[in-house]
Amino acid sequence: MLMKAPRGTNDILPAEVPQWQLFEEKVREVCNLFGYNEIRTPIFEHTELFQRGVGEVTDIVAKEMYTFLDRGKRSLTLRPEGTASVARAYLEHKMQGEAQPIKVYYLGPMFRYDRPQAGRYRQFHQFGVEVFGTNEPTVDTEVIMLPVFFFKSLGLKEFTLEINSVGCPRCRQEYRRQLQEALKERVPKLCSDCAERYEKNPLRILDCKNEKCRELVQDVPLLTNTLCAECADHFAQVRQALDALGQDYVVNPRLVRGLDYYTKTAFEIISPALGAQSSICGGGRYDHLLATIGGPDIPGIGFALGIERVLAALEAEGVLKQEPDVPDIFVATAGVPETEALKVAMQLRAAGLRTDKDYLGRSLKAQLKFAGKKGVKYVVILGDEELKNGQATVRDMQAGSQEVVLLTELAAHLAGLIREAE
Ligand code: HAM
Repeated sequence: MLMKAPRGTNDILPAEVPQWQLFEEKVREVCNLFGYNEIRTPIFEHTELFQRGVGEVTDIVAKEMYTFLDRGKRSLTLRPEGTASVARAYLEHKMQGEAQPIKVYYLGPMFRYDRPQAGRYRQFHQFGVEVFGTNEPTVDTEVIMLPVFFFKSLGLKEFTLEINSVGCPRCRQEYRRQLQEALKERVPKLCSDCAERYEKNPLRILDCKNEKCRELVQDVPLLTNTLCAECADHFAQVRQALDALGQDYVVNPRLVRGLDYYTKTAFEIISPALGAQSSICGGGRYDHLLATIGGPDIPGIGFALGIERVLAALEAEGVLKQEPDVPDIFVATAGVPETEALKVAMQLRAAGLRTDKDYLGRSLKAQLKFAGKKGVKYVVILGDEELKNGQATVRDMQAGSQEVVLLTELAAHLAGLIREAE
């Protein structure tokens, strides 16, 4: 039987890789513009980090983690998200001792045992940023503006920014009480997940996707009305800064996010080009995460975006094309040993020219056909007579024209042609 990749994982094929590379280049360019440095943390961590950081009652920790015992009987987990790992690294390397804030970004695979469907995978990739050491509201606005800036520079046209404040543990406790009170009679009508959430994590009922649950929470009190003075003021300042930058947004008082560490600002970016999995970016402030995982009470904020979803949105908008990278030059042989072609190819590569050759002993006609199919721009034809005279024929595949060039001038000549064509 033919083996397949595990359910919910994807191969990124050569035709798709250029999009990913372009995406990653853009990530580095934009993060550099905003003053962020890259951080790379392990793919797996002690399970306890996510239990404490992300929260035991979240779906991610309760149902979706890839957890295993290693040979030393330690419980380890493939990271389901990046924030807890980066927070752990910040504390472990005592970055609080450096000039604050610390602004970092990361790129890489995350793992969640989710039900796979379009836009939802068990191994997916995130680009995220985290900022530690400040609760200044303009940093919230800057962290929200970064993905907006990033999406625009990728050419994505349609997306909506939704923001909310989920308050601090103090105002949330009061809200939790009010919400449970309002939903008390409706528990039997909620979906089974929400019935479970009622005791442990009632706020999550607010963003359940189930139609029935959505109806049932239509008239419940809103957290935005219960915010303490400090949280309300912070939220107002974040909005003012967004207004000052002319950034459109929607305040969604039902936006609560699926991870437990959030406080105050929470936000999501939605692409209308996608189906059910339309959230292309999510983030927010987490002022007590570091304390929860054993550090001092240092505030933080960040976001992560799903690379597969953003690429799908770009594709749906027609911005992406799927083409593998193609060499500019193909060295073909006409009755000369293959080593001659390899020698010329190596010389051209050494001169910085993207070059390939034939490896199947094809006839000259078949080599030209193959090069044409691949989309190569120039074919260098090595013939017996020409080679003796230190020459080769250069064929422009688009124009169909040919010229004879001295081998000693071949690299410079081709480099000139490629430059002109660009
Ligand atoms: P999250 O909302 O769980 O937040 O994930 C962020 C983004 O990752 C989502 O908006 C979505 O685009 C993508 N994503 C999540 N799950 C999947 C999946 N199964 N398949 C494909 N894409 C997915 C976090 O992970 C937080 N750590 C974000 C953050 C950083 N908050 C503060 N700092």
